[in-house]
Amino acid sequence: MEIARPLLRWYRRVRRRLPWRETRDPYAIWVSETMLQQTQVGTVIPYYERFMRRFPTVRALAAAPLGDVLRFWAGLGYYARARNLHAAARDVVARFDGRVPSTVEELLTLPGVGRYTAGAVASIAFGARATVVDGNVARVLARWHAMRGDVKSAAMRQRLWRAAESMLPARGCGDFNQALMELGATVCTPIAPQCEVCPLRGGCRALARGLADRIPRPARRTMVQRETHVVAAVSDGERWLFVRRPRNGLWGGLWELPTLPVARTRVRDAVQEVLRRRELARARIESRPFVRATHALSHRRIEFVGYRCRVERTARVRGGRWCRLNRAERLGLSRAMQRVVAALRELVGANDGGLPSGRDRVA
Ligand code: ADE
Repeated sequence: MEIARPLLRWYRRVRRRLPWRETRDPYAIWVSETMLQQTQVGTVIPYYERFMRRFPTVRALAAAPLGDVLRFWAGLGYYARARNLHAAARDVVARFDGRVPSTVEELLTLPGVGRYTAGAVASIAFGARATVVDGNVARVLARWHAMRGDVKSAAMRQRLWRAAESMLPARGCGDFNQALMELGATVCTPIAPQCEVCPLRGGCRALARGLADRIPRPARRTMVQRETHVVAAVSDGERWLFVRRPRNGLWGGLWELPTLPVARTRVRDAVQEVLRRRELARARIESRPFVRATHALSHRRIEFVGYRCRVERTARVRGGRWCRLNRAERLGLSRAMQRVVAALRELVGANDGGLPSGRDRVA
């Protein structure tokens, strides 16, 4: 059975109206595809709309400081995407006169643009005959061909890309690729696929063999690493100390209340260490944590344990900024840090008061 025609007919009938589907602007499509890697459509929409209002063109993005870009990405996760997008926008201005390149080969030369993004932008924005395989597409194709391997393995990935290439229609590749994604997201779902309404049910080998719910084979579970990070919420009575994380690595370039992973020391010693590193060793530490919040990343579970600390006088802290809690969001905080700050706000009230000096229970 041929795949493209029934799939495209289905897609044109049922496709969701999404903001990046109302445009042919390659820059807008590139931004959307970058956000949509690792993040679901429903989460992406408001971020995409805010981002496009603030950075409507590749030149606007290239001209902005990285801190601004991260602020508009804050909460979306996988911040290397934002750092790369920003670097790539500058590259597009420098090397391509501000025009997003139209071929997979040229797109691949941009920072952070891999095979998936290059194929998506080339096909959706420029109508190029280019393939894309993301998690949704991989599942659809693995079922269509009844491939039993682990879709994350290198060998299977190669087979899937080849399968996708061999199915590409002569025209309408952008819609074809989006239709495969759409089918995977809405019908050919990981659990309980709705085969009875699938436009491809006539040719699906997994369905014919009764294997639709066993393909793709579940990936072996990876070990999740558990970590504890202490947070020192330092107040001068009015404002709170925020610092910027190093540019690379997890949450790179975002702001936070000073935080440190706890190694083998006791949690309270780690709080002392956070303060010492900021030359705030004289700050008083409240005896109990104000928050314990667990944040799950793909392979890590991080428990944040936050302590309120109080300094008598506002000190200059290198790379730091004293900020009212109700303005902290504007700095650009990770979702995990947003939760810690929300707990702190609940505790101290909207007026931001720090730990009152005087008769607190302090260590
Ligand atoms: N996921 C990745 N790209 C997408 C797109 N263009 N539309 C909907 N979901 C997607």
